[in-house]
Amino acid sequence: MTSTTPKKVRVPDLALMKQRGDRIVMLTAYDATMARLLDRGGIDLLLVGDSLGNVIMGLDTTIPVTLDVMIHHTRAVARGANRALVVADMPFLTYQVSLEQATRNATRLFQEGGAAAVKLEGGRAVADTVRKLTAAGLPVMGHLGLTPQHVHRLGGMRQQARSESAAHELILDALALEDAGAFAIVLEAIPDTVAEAVTSQLKIPTIGIGAGSHCDGQVLVSYDVLGLFDTFAPPFAKQYAQLGQVIVRAAKDYANDVREGLFPKSTLSNQQTGDLAGRRVIPARMTRTFDKLRLGSRV
Ligand code: KIV
Repeated sequence: MTSTTPKKVRVPDLALMKQRGDRIVMLTAYDATMARLLDRGGIDLLLVGDSLGNVIMGLDTTIPVTLDVMIHHTRAVARGANRALVVADMPFLTYQVSLEQATRNATRLFQEGGAAAVKLEGGRAVADTVRKLTAAGLPVMGHLGLTPQHVHRLGGMRQQARSESAAHELILDALALEDAGAFAIVLEAIPDTVAEAVTSQLKIPTIGIGAGSHCDGQVLVSYDVLGLFDTFAPPFAKQYAQLGQVIVRAAKDYANDVREGLFPKSTLSNQQTGDLAGRRVIPARMTRTFDKLRLGSRV
């Protein structure tokens, strides 16, 4: 499958992509507008990552992100995505307490959020949960290596599986996730050689982030790719645009125009109101409001 394939991406397509040697492309998304744009760009999977704690909520870690917040953002992304498969992160401690708790919480991401799959962090420790969810018809993506929900245990956001024994443990975790029914595994911040070994031993695809070029696919945080942070860029990420600078420039130009009385132009306002009602998909109630405004009545 290539980015030009218009067909909706579904969970079984990913195994086929691995077999065919087609690289899988995944980016994070947190809202409908961005999801629509990334989908139009041909991204195969949109991950509603709990990284939204960092990039949307301004938190230091993903730990405070709640299930309700994840459902809220997943619903928005699912509305914007047309072709891409929407995967939602299960947040911290929403799947470890019991199999029942995990099933109930994952179900909410599907039913209320509109997710097509969930991702959870960990290996053998969560294999029973992965088995239970997949048996219930809820597709699961694994996540190994640097698992940000374990930041306190790991002692920071640092590369994992650096020793031979740690690499061996990670391979055992990956095999356990595959055996439990996971349909793909994210490998984050591990040496390229370890990612290559895992990728060659699994039938399901690996999707790397800071794990080299031998994975079956790649994922990045969209805000890093788009250059929305001008203060921080992870070393493994590549900026394909500098939208942060574009936004600051636009904000400055707008502020200047308002302060100088250059915007709005009095004749433009009425025309814009008419255009908005005609061009955008605006709920009927709001269109009626525009009509009343045009006719000069109170709303
Ligand atoms: O939350 C997230 O964005 C992630 C990706 C970095 C893989 O888990």
